[in-house]
Amino acid sequence: MKITVVGAGAVGATCADNIARKELAEELVLLDIKEGFAEGKALDISQTASLLGFDTNVIGVTNDYSRTANSDVVVITSGIPRKPGMTREELIGTNARIVEGVCKNLLEYSPNAIVVVISNPMDTMTYLALKSTGLDKHRIIGMGGILDSARFKLYLQKELNCSPNDLHATVIVGHGDTTMIPLTRLATLNSHPVSNLLSADQLKKVSDDTMVGGATLTKLLGTSAWYAPGAAGAALVESIIRNERKVFPCCVYLEGEYGQTDICMGVPVVIGKNGWESIIDYKLNEAEQAAFNKSADAVRSMNSVLSTLVA
Ligand code: LAC
Repeated sequence: MKITVVGAGAVGATCADNIARKELAEELVLLDIKEGFAEGKALDISQTASLLGFDTNVIGVTNDYSRTANSDVVVITSGIPRKPGMTREELIGTNARIVEGVCKNLLEYSPNAIVVVISNPMDTMTYLALKSTGLDKHRIIGMGGILDSARFKLYLQKELNCSPNDLHATVIVGHGDTTMIPLTRLATLNSHPVSNLLSADQLKKVSDDTMVGGATLTKLLGTSAWYAPGAAGAALVESIIRNERKVFPCCVYLEGEYGQTDICMGVPVVIGKNGWESIIDYKLNEAEQAAFNKSADAVRSMNSVLSTLVA
């Protein structure tokens, strides 16, 4: 197997580091436009191999897409991260052009690759990747919900004083501070609904903290997070490469599912060797569906800006 990660910034390098440690590919290419940067990160990651006991050939390249040829999975993390006080949506002007160009270059050399999009604003960048490449919809997957769900589980874990591994909790819809929906009604601690274990106030706090999970980190760090986004990206790649058929909330193209059409948004999907295989219907209640529709409106209005930015 061969995997390419584009963008050797904090998220891309952390994602590559996790992919290398998990030995998901014989060859892992890290590509960046900044001269020597990806080479340096790849060399640094490679020097941990004997310490951590993995055997993945990690190669860094400066903008040479020919070296990414025949990748099975490509991960796009390119673009600028947000600064404190910025929304993910404010990045669109810069990142749309970058992501469109990266997709084109990648597919020229890896026409059969499955494309994972992490760049922000992620829902719109996933839509752009789909529209600009014309690829089969199952091969374009936006990573946001896995990360948001991991944050959701952490905040639940803190309230419940439990093992994170006993929690099942999902965040769906847009990867935006005000548009995501932590599904508290469906979250369980080993099959026990957390709504039986926590008060309405506690659930609201968990939900609120989850929604601003990324913004909280951006404020603390001065830039956006990388450990959890990188690990979440690698978990998604793992389910593809190992054909695990895990159910992850991912941003995919909807054609009527959840009442939405011509939009990429986060819904639970089965992830396997062909990309996303099917969408699972969680049978939202009225309030959840209303929140879903509101989030879709926000994502759709962001998508409408694309026509003014890219060719
Ligand atoms: C975050 C960015 C990566 O939520 O979207 O941390």
